[in-house]
Amino acid sequence: MRQIIYRSITTSESGRAADDIPDIVREATARNGLDGITGLLYAEEDAFLQAIEGPADSMSDLMERLENDARHRDLTILVDRSITEREFGDWTMIYRDRRESIDAFDDRLRVLLAGVSDETVRHFRALQPA
Ligand SMILES: Cc1cc2nc3c(=O)[nH]c(=O)nc-3n(C[C@H](O)[C@H](O)[C@H](O)COP(=O)(O)O)c2cc1C
Repeated sequence: MRQIIYRSITTSESGRAADDIPDIVREATARNGLDGITGLLYAEEDAFLQAIEGPADSMSDLMERLENDARHRDLTILVDRSITEREFGDWTMIYRDRRESIDAFDDRLRVLLAGVSDETVRHFRALQPA
């Protein structure tokens, strides 16, 4: 299996990556299930951070679609490695609503990242507001 973590910037007019989440969720949920892809999509301000993992073929197909998706730009790959076990058992996404406190958000993130390697956690923490 292959695991990729990347970040990118939304191209939406509002400049908020979370505004794209409903459409992405609709497309990605069913599709990832069929493709054997699991992961975590995180939106904060104008940035996306996504960890995806699954069979090599599904992963190359998904990366090609992501690279051609005009809803984001400046896709930068942070991690691209071969794994024997999944770090994310489910396909989920997380984003902070403007009304949610950073502490409450941090609690939710901590639950989702339980059992994930320190290196992977570091990438998600790096995107968090101070
Ligand atoms: C930030 C971001 C994350 C996405 N994550 C996924 C994903 O995990 N799985 C997926 O199938 N599509 C995901 N998409 C959507 C794909 O880029 C693509 O639009 C979708 O797979 C449909 O592709 P198609 O129209 O070529 O069939 C994501 C798009 C963005 C902008």
